[in-house]
Formats: sequence, C-alpha cells, structure tokens
Amino acid sequence: TDLAHIRNFSIVAHIDHGKSTLADRLIQETGTVAGRDMKEQLLDAMDIERERGITIKANTVRIDYTADNGEKYVLNLIDTPGHVDFAYEVSRSMRAVEGSLLVVDSTQGVEAQTLANVYQAIDANHEIVPILNKIDLPASEPERVKEQIEDVIGIDASGAILVSAKTGVGIHETLEAIVHHLPAPKGDRDAPLKAMLVDSWYDSYLGVIVLVRIMDGVLRKGDRVKMMSNGTIHHVDRIGVFRPAMADIGELGPGEIGFLTASIKQVRDTRVGDTITHERKGADKALPGFKPSIPVVFCGLFPVDANDFEDLRDSIEKLALNDASFSYEMETSAALGFGFRCGFLGLLHLEVVRDRLEREFDIDLITTAPSVVYHVYMRDGTMRELHNPADMPDMTHVDHLEEPRIKATILVPDEYLGDVLKLCQDRRGIQEDLTYAGSRAMVVYDLPLNEVVFDFYDRLKSVTKGYASFDYQLTGYREDNLVKMSILVNDEPVDALSMMVHRDRAEMRGRAMVEKLKDLIPRHMFKIPIQAAIGGKVIARETLSALRKDVTAKCYGGDATRKRKLLDKQKAGKKKMRQFGKVEIPQEAFISALKMD
Ligand code: GTP
Repeated sequence: TDLAHIRNFSIVAHIDHGKSTLADRLIQETGTVAGRDMKEQLLDAMDIERERGITIKANTVRIDYTADNGEKYVLNLIDTPGHVDFAYEVSRSMRAVEGSLLVVDSTQGVEAQTLANVYQAIDANHEIVPILNKIDLPASEPERVKEQIEDVIGIDASGAILVSAKTGVGIHETLEAIVHHLPAPKGDRDAPLKAMLVDSWYDSYLGVIVLVRIMDGVLRKGDRVKMMSNGTIHHVDRIGVFRPAMADIGELGPGEIGFLTASIKQVRDTRVGDTITHERKGADKALPGFKPSIPVVFCGLFPVDANDFEDLRDSIEKLALNDASFSYEMETSAALGFGFRCGFLGLLHLEVVRDRLEREFDIDLITTAPSVVYHVYMRDGTMRELHNPADMPDMTHVDHLEEPRIKATILVPDEYLGDVLKLCQDRRGIQEDLTYAGSRAMVVYDLPLNEVVFDFYDRLKSVTKGYASFDYQLTGYREDNLVKMSILVNDEPVDALSMMVHRDRAEMRGRAMVEKLKDLIPRHMFKIPIQAAIGGKVIARETLSALRKDVTAKCYGGDATRKRKLLDKQKAGKKKMRQFGKVEIPQEAFISALKMD
C-alpha cells in the first residue's frame, strides 16, 4: 500500500469509557461494507483460530476502508495497555502511530487516565480526534465535556464527534475523520529496514508473536533479522496482519503494521520499543528512546503448602513466558520456606499476577509486604539496590538510604477534596498543584512510592466513594529517614513481616501491626509476646494471653455433629497455618497484617 493511503492510530481513553466497544464497531462497520460473505469468512477464520487456541488481539487490527471520496484506505488500529503500570509500553506504542482517537464518556468527562494517556499521545506528536461517546444515554452532556476537554487538556474540541459505540451513531463520521484528519505515515522503502517492536505475546502454537511497525525498508518472509538492543538473530518464518484474524502476507513496507513469527521462545527476547533490522545491510542506528521496562515493586510469593513449591515454580515460569516485565528469583525465608522474590511494574501488575497464579494455576499463596527498590548508600561509598527488607545491611555500615518518589495526579469531585488532601498528607505527600475544572479538582502530589504500594488505591477509592481517578509516574530517588522494622513473635523474628518504614511513622506502623497480629494469631497454651523493633530497640509490644480450653468445650458435650464440624474446620484451618517456632500463624494473619488502615 502506498503511504498516502495508510492511517495508523490508537484509541486513548479512561477505563470503561468505551475503547473496546468503539474498536469492535469500527471493525464491524468496515467488515460489513464488503458484504455478507466477507463477514462470514472473517468470522469463520476467527473461529478456526479460536479452536486452535490462538490468541486474537482484536484491538490490534487492519481495516480496509473505502472512504466517501471513493479512495481505498488501510487503517491500522493498535491497542495500548490502559493502566498506569504500563505507562512505558503505552509511550512506546504511541510512537508507532501518527494519530489518536480520544474517547471520553460524555456522561462522565475527563478522568485521570484520560489525561495520562492523551498527554502520551501529545508527546508522540499525534493528531488527535476527540470523540464523545455514549451520547445515547440521557445523562450525556456533550457541550460540558467539550468545554472540559478544552479547559483541562487544552486541545480544540469544537470538531468532536458525537458517538454511541453502542447504537452505531457517529461511527461513519469517525472513519471519515480518521482518513481526513490524521496524517499519513512517512517512511523510505529503499532505506535499511527499521521496524519498531510494538508488542509481543506468547502463543502456545506459534511461539512468540511480534507486532511491528515498519518505519523504513521492507520486511519479507524468510528474512534474517536482528534485534538491535542485544544483537540476537532470528529467521522470520511468517509475516502477516490482523483482519482481525491472522492473515499471512508477503511483505510489510514502510508505514505498515503487522506481525512476524521467528521461532522465538520467550517474550523476554522481544523488548517493546526495540528496533528490528536485517542481519545484513541493516540500519546502523536504532530508533531513539529504547529502554527496557524495569520492575519497581517487589514482594515474596510463597506457597501456603510447602508441597506446592514445584507447582509454583512451573506456574511462575509459564507466566513469565508471556510477561517480560515480570521478574523472579528463588528466595528462602526462615518463616515461609521456599518461594520466589518477584518484581512488578506496579501494584496492579502484582495483583494481576497473584490472581492468575491463584486462580488459573490453583495455588494458595502467601504474599509478603510489597516493597519498593531502595538505594542503600554504604559508608564505603558503594550503593546497593535493596529489593527485600530482609536483606537490609547492618545500619552501622550504612550512610544513608534513598527511596523512589512519584508524581501522582488525582481528579476528584470537590466534596471529597479534603479527604484526598488528608490522605496524601498522611502518606508523606508534598502538594505540587491544585486546579479546578468545573466541579472537579485536579491535585498533583509528590509522594513516596513506598506509601502508595500498600493500599493507597483502596483508601482513595473508599474516601471518595469511587469517584476519584488516579495516575502516577516515577520521578526519581530522594534521601529520607528510612529504617527497617522487624516483627517478633514469641521472640522470633518473622522475616516475612519485616518492612522498610519512615522513622517518624515507625511507632505508629509498629503499634498497628502488633495490635492486629494480636487479634489474628490464635491463642496458644502459652503466653506469646508480639513485638515491633528497629534494630535491637522494641518500639511496640502486645502480649497474647495463654489459652487453656479445648475449642470443642463450648459445645456443652451434647451435639456430636457440631463437634465434628468444628474439628473438621479446625483441621482445614490448620492446613493454612504456618509454623513459627512454637507458634502457628494463619495465612490470613499475613494478608490482614500487611494491610493498613
Ligand atoms: P476497558 O476494556 O475496561 O478498558 O474499558 P473500555 O474503555 O474498553 O470500555 P468498554 O468498551 O468495555 O465499555 C465499557 C462499558 O460501557 C461497557 O459496558 C459498554 O457496553 C458500555 N458502552 C460503551 N460504549 C457505549 C455507548 O456508546 N453507550 C452506552 N450506553 N454504553 C456504552
């Protein structure tokens, strides 16, 4: 296809504003243009691929569109991950296209992720077509939202298209706007190959599938290509596009978007943002700005039942096949036995991985307190990265510690602003900006990431009844008065509960932790001291008194079935207990103890 007839775009939106529904509509509308047979074929192809278990990324799709002017265009829509944890991936994939549809729910207005994503699009020099979605709903306020887009984002919204992705209103106008308002890509067919690696995922039949945007040159089946970040060579065995089913084609030229397969075993070998060129007569300079995404939040994952360790290892390896940003290494804990120290892009990424392990792979897990990566400056002038509070060196050798900070943007209705400010203040935040857009406030805070990884999202949601939206980016490291707090149960340190805290907040955290543990640890036949300590100094203490009674004693002899039920329950509960010295701690105790309120 010649460049003038290609349009490449992405859709940026806040979660739930209708990105997927709109993408489906665009595919449907253009699929039906070619008539019924075409549509049936297309669906057939999809069914076959489904049966074979091949992943279809329906949101990355090549659409053939004949515009009202009679010209035939190829429209390439690429999907971008929606969540803040994947901001780097978003920023890379934005550079693979020239324009964006900015979808805003006309009943809601601009939200934090609308802003974060549209700023990425602006940074990538995109032309932007604003779309007001859900105009079929009575609560739709297109005029107000247009104004808000102009006030808050600062782009012209007078030409915004009124759309209902549900009923199909405005879909044709959207396709015309893509053709007429978004620029055609540029590229040189005769230059050495430069293909940007936009995305990649693991497929159990085909191995790794790599989505590329050709910047210059031509990519053909059979080519030997090189990943410029690490020099690895691959033989391209398949090239194609998504319609949305996979369709092989002979070559991909400048401006085009499609996939390649090359018997690549793991997504780890395909870094988003990397440049792919030919092994021979390749480009000598990679596309600018490549940096592999690095995990910023770490935690330990341990099987509740030590016998599940091998299963956990298998599952983690499988998961890592398809998730290059997830890292892991084996860890042993005195308290929890064998497990893994895992690294994530953020808290949501952590939750997604933990959920999948528990649900898809059916393993009960203990998750230790999430921790950020600290920079520990030693007295001898060296610096160590600390991924696990348990590895904290002796303070006498430490000069100072630095922690990662973030810039957080929160949009919230006026009436909850006070609570949000208090929450941010409580989490050692420094206010940087406060502006209004209609009845919503936008606050920007500089916060320690450490204070956000615990339960910031949850707290924010609860104090604003779900009306706040939140987004953040890492800004850098700063020194602060940070210490390691240990928890001792019956005088034995429980390594899985140790955490890094700010010195001023240590007492409060320590007290909250021991009080909670006192409620969570079942009483034993002996007295159990529960302490929080910094170094050798105890900063909080509770004592769990001894128990003498049999649990079944409260059944007053009589009811035998009830007695047995209780005993069964007790047995089931036992399985989820971990032994710490002489003390048994239920798994829930860890989970609850690690939440704060
Ligand atoms: P994520 O996939 O979660 O990021 O959300 P999304 O932005 O892709 O939104 P999605 O397309 O899943 O739509 C969110 C919800 O809004 C769904 O329940 C849709 O059915 C609904 N929806 C989308 N567009 C419209 C619309 O034009 N009108 C109405 N009434 N509902 C819509």
